[in-house]
Amino acid sequence: MKRDMSGSALLRPATPEDHPRMARILATSFVGKFALAFGRDEERRVKGFEIMLRYGLPDDCLYYVITLDGEVVGLIAFRMGNASLPPERKREYRRALGEVLGPLRAWWAIQVLSLMDGGKLPPQACYLDNLAIDPAFRRLNLTGAIADQVYGSLAAEGKTEILADFVSTNRAVEALVRREGWEYVRKSYILAPITLPLFGFAGIFRIRKDITAYAAGG
Ligand SMILES: CC(C)(COP(=O)(O)OP(=O)(O)OC[C@H]1O[C@@H](n2cnc3c(N)ncnc32)[C@H](O)[C@@H]1OP(=O)(O)O)[C@@H](O)C(=O)NCCC(=O)NCCS
Repeated sequence: MKRDMSGSALLRPATPEDHPRMARILATSFVGKFALAFGRDEERRVKGFEIMLRYGLPDDCLYYVITLDGEVVGLIAFRMGNASLPPERKREYRRALGEVLGPLRAWWAIQVLSLMDGGKLPPQACYLDNLAIDPAFRRLNLTGAIADQVYGSLAAEGKTEILADFVSTNRAVEALVRREGWEYVRKSYILAPITLPLFGFAGIFRIRKDITAYAAGG
């Protein structure tokens, strides 16, 4: 029987102390877009993610951790606006990544990740950038259990919609989209000739969740 996690899963803003655990979850969860940037070696990916968390996040990026009985078991991040990294932080980011990946690969990693940030956001929208649950804690409906907390927090920040992209082979996200009542904005196959042979997926789907109803008093 499926365990019901809705009572004990909580969302809280991430702190620098959470970074090692978050980097480990990111490194085991994201192979596709980040493998291109950080490589296939898991330990090197963990280091890459620690550096990304430390230097690579624009000031308007909100990172939350998902906890279960106080233990960090997942994370979720949002771009809240269109801020870019200040130039000196970008230099530090490239320098620190360069020590792990080499300078060329570090430059490439930063370019690739900035191309995949969801593009320019209208003021009412935020962009779901990363969502990951530790593989040992998947299929417990943790994402469903914290969904209302997520929508409430973002609505309290003045947002009325969440945008996100996912790749057509991601069955878990497809199921969440259905369960959580997100809508499809577009299904794009334009990059299929490149993404299918390289990464094994043909489509990139843009989705949207209206969170107007979660605003205080709404
Ligand atoms: C996306 C993610 C956070 C969802 O985790 P979760 O909240 O634990 O969600 P679940 O694993 O319970 O999946 C929800 C549903 O998706 C479907 N699903 C999940 N994994 C699946 C798989 N491998 N094959 C087919 N269906 C799957 C199931 O219907 C599942 O519900 P069920 O367990 O009741 O059958 C998690 O899968 C993850 O971390 N993935 C790697 C990172 C990622 O892809 N992030 C999203 C990028 S946009």
